[in-house]
Formats: sequence, C-alpha cells, structure tokens
Amino acid sequence: MWTDVKRVADGLGNRRIVDLFSDTKRAEDFSVTALDMLFDFSKTQLDDTSLPMMLSIVDNSGLAAKRAAMFGGEKINETEGRAVLHTALRNLDGTAVSVDGADVMPEVLDTLARMGTAATEIRASEVTDVINIGIGGSDLGPVMATIALSPYHDGPRTHFVSNVDGADIADVLKVCDPKTTLVIVASKTFTTIETMTNARTAKAWFEAAGVSLDGKFVALSSNQDAAAEWGIPATRVFGFEDWVGGRYSMWGPIGLSIMIAIGPDNFRDFLTGGMEMDRHFQTAPLAENMPVLLALVGLWHNQVLDYGTRAVLPYENRLARLPAYLQQLEMESNGKGVSMDGVDLPYHSGPVVWGEPGTNGQHAFYQLIHQGTRVIPCEFMVGANSHEPELRHQHDLLIANCFAQSEALMKGRDLDEARGKVAGKFEGDELERQARHRVFPGNRPSTTLIYDKLDPKTLGKIVALYEHRVFVEGVVLGINSYDQWGVELGKELATALGPVVTGEVSTKGKDGSTAQLVNHVLSRKT
Ligand code: F6P
Repeated sequence: MWTDVKRVADGLGNRRIVDLFSDTKRAEDFSVTALDMLFDFSKTQLDDTSLPMMLSIVDNSGLAAKRAAMFGGEKINETEGRAVLHTALRNLDGTAVSVDGADVMPEVLDTLARMGTAATEIRASEVTDVINIGIGGSDLGPVMATIALSPYHDGPRTHFVSNVDGADIADVLKVCDPKTTLVIVASKTFTTIETMTNARTAKAWFEAAGVSLDGKFVALSSNQDAAAEWGIPATRVFGFEDWVGGRYSMWGPIGLSIMIAIGPDNFRDFLTGGMEMDRHFQTAPLAENMPVLLALVGLWHNQVLDYGTRAVLPYENRLARLPAYLQQLEMESNGKGVSMDGVDLPYHSGPVVWGEPGTNGQHAFYQLIHQGTRVIPCEFMVGANSHEPELRHQHDLLIANCFAQSEALMKGRDLDEARGKVAGKFEGDELERQARHRVFPGNRPSTTLIYDKLDPKTLGKIVALYEHRVFVEGVVLGINSYDQWGVELGKELATALGPVVTGEVSTKGKDGSTAQLVNHVLSRKT
C-alpha cells in the first residue's frame, strides 16, 4: 500500500518545504476551510504528487463504506462485537440510528433530557462542589472540556479524581464540605479498580462526617446493576450503551460534570459542534474533508516518513489537557499490533502523541523540536479571538508566537546566517564552532488549525475532528480502533500483585526484578 508513495517520499532528497511556496497558490491549495476553521497543512512535504497518492490510499481503504457502517450502527468493533456510535450522542436532530434493528435515538434524547433536568436542579441547589470520580475516558474528556470552557463555568466547583494514589482524592476532599458536596461515580463498566476504590473512600468520608448518603451519589455507567448493588438507585443512574467507547464518551452521561459546570444550553452547543463536524465528515469530498486531511497528514508523517511521534501544541492555555485527552483517544485507539484479521501489521501503528500549550512549551522542549536529531511533526492550533478582549495585546503576542514557531521550524537558519549572528563576537575556528551551535536545520513539518474562539461549539468541532481523524487512520491501517486489549495484562498482574506487595503472599514465582522491588518496599515500609 505504501510502496509507491514511499518511493516518492524517498525521492524528495534535500527538497525544502519553504521552496514549495514558489507556487504562489500553495497555501490555498494545501489547506481547507470548513465550519469557520482553517486547517493549513501547506508547511509539510506533501505536494502535487504525494497528496493525490495519499488521497487514493484513503479512498481505496474503503473509507466511504466504513464510515457509513459506523454511522449506520454496524458492529465495526469486531473484537468486542459492538457498534461504534458516539456520534448518536450528539445527533441532536434525532434522525433514526439503528442498532440490531432498533432506533437508539429516543433513549439517547431521553437520557440527555434527564441529564439536563438533573444538572439544572444541581446548579440551583445548595451543592457547592461536584467531584467526578472516574479514570481514562471517564475522566480525561470531562477534565479537558471543563478547563477549556472555564469562561462558561457558572455552576458549582468541579473536581476530578482519577488516580488510585490516595493523594488524589485526599487533596480534593480536603477542600470540600461533605454537607454540600455531590459525588459522581463515572465508570462505563462500574468495575474499574481505581474508580471503585476512590468511590468507597468518598463514601467513608461522608459517613465519617455523619452525613447521610441519601442523594450524595450519582452514577454514570452502562452497568446499572452494579451501580444499584453499590447503593445508587436507578433514578440517580445515567446509563449508556456498550456502543459508546470510554474514550468517546464525554458526549453523553460521562459529560454530566461538564453540563453541571457550564449548564445544559452550553453543553448542547458543544454537542452541536460535534454534530456539525460529523455532517462535514460524512458529506465533504475527500480532498476538502478536514478529518480526512488531518488523518492523511498523520499517515504521511508516521507511516510514510517514519516520524514516530507528533506534538499537539495548542496556543490556548485552556486547552492544557487536550494533549492528555488526545493521548488516550489516539494511542488507545490506534496503538495496535495486528490488523482486524489478527495478522501482524507490516507497518507501524499509530504514533506517540504528546504536547503542551504554547508558549510554555517553547521554554521547555521546543529546543529539541528545532535542533534535535529527530523530526517531530507539530500540530499547532490557536483561536483568532480570546475571551479576554481587554488583554488583546497578549492574544496578539500569543498568535505571533504560534506562527513564528511554524515559520522557524520550516525555514530554519543556515550556517552563513548563523555566522552573521556571531561575527564580531568571535573569530576563526571559534567563530565557526559558535556558529554551528546556532544553526537550525529547518524543513520541519507542521500544521496549523485556526478557529474563531474557544466556545462550546468550537470545542465540539475540534474534538469530533480528532475523533474522525483517528477513525480514518484506523481504517487505512486496517486495525480495530475501538478495542483496548493492551490495557488488560497490566490490570491482571496488578490484581495478582495486590496481596504480594502487602506481604500476605510471597514473591515466589515472580521474576527476580519484580521480587526485588517488592522486597525492597517491604523492607522500607514504616
Ligand atoms: O483501562 C482502560 C479503560 O478501559 C479505558 O478504555 C476507559 O476509558 C477506562 O479504562 C475507564 O473505564 P470505566 O469507564 O469502565 O471505568
């Protein structure tokens, strides 16, 4: 599949991205505008030869049929026998979506309405603090969105507890009053050890304060029986079906903490943004389809050019947790070793995704991005407007920094220019040595996404854009983006190690290293 396009990539030799702009239409031709957002991928090596090749790879992957299958409720998550229908959660016009012959929309809309009623009641009540206890997809999306939409946050304070490390919940409980705190137990399975352990700690906290548990807990889960067994009545459970994957779940009940924070109307705008991106993804021609183009750039960098990581660099402080959110979305979805048929992949699966907001990252790891020996494709994003009109000069500075980075990565600085920078300060061999440290290789690819302003609708568009990017990459790679068997082994071993680290069970049978680690901890425990 990649042979021809790799040959084209190999033939690029020393070609510089910056020289591609001798085509004065390049910026326009290698970018797309949709839903008030501009996605510019002109600062990459993609050109008139490779872009059509990549588009035909995407086309030949059967994307159109697979996309229809996903939106149509077919069981495309074949290893778990499930449909993949997070898109139904934001299908606000209510058009029928069938799973096993039954329309799921009435229940989706009913749950959304119940969430709205509950959120409105909670926002109007004496509740001052809401603690969402969940992990992975039951945490990362709500945390990310709540921070992203803080200008809309007019509900009770929200806290997020995820880590089984007791420090996490202890620090949150310290600042909450049990009398006015509501705890949301967010867990699709209602079995996740971290979440259930933290939920028990919260229960004990209420009990220790002599506060009745009545009305103190809400559950967000597909496992209503387990929630009931845990003592949360059905009226306080917001359920969802197995066709909502954990990392795709913030659009539904798992988003309750977001809804409580920003209110049902703003939450609806968030869903609308997601739905608009769905419609764009379903209808725009491949060459103008933003998720397809974002995926295609990802595949070009990872599978064709062998750049194994990509940095997501939002120039938007409130998107501080977007990279962490995307890590789960992309790496849990597309970090697979076998194809859908169970055959070893003959190429790399998804890349390592990481990042931090700019400009902070500039003063931390950009050194390596600019001068390190590995090429790291960068995905910049920035809003044309901020929520602080009174600080417009700061926003202008932010945008200037964002654009300066992609320009610097592309243009670099050659030895002659570097010599010019140090001429007069040094001479001879020392001048040469000093100049070489100031060379930037340049020719480093990046993309930039510009949106109008980070409001709920825009956030919905951005998240759905990345979700569909993951889908497209997964389809082209021929993998199942919707299971996560790779997390199981560690969970099993942790369960087995539980009584070993307490000393109840011996380390017999454990490998030498693990036994040594356990024994060292046991010998140092105070
Ligand atoms: O361990 C991985 C995982 O299964 C994620 O896919 C999921 O988002 C997370 O754990 C939490 O699962 P749950 O919502 O069932 O507690």
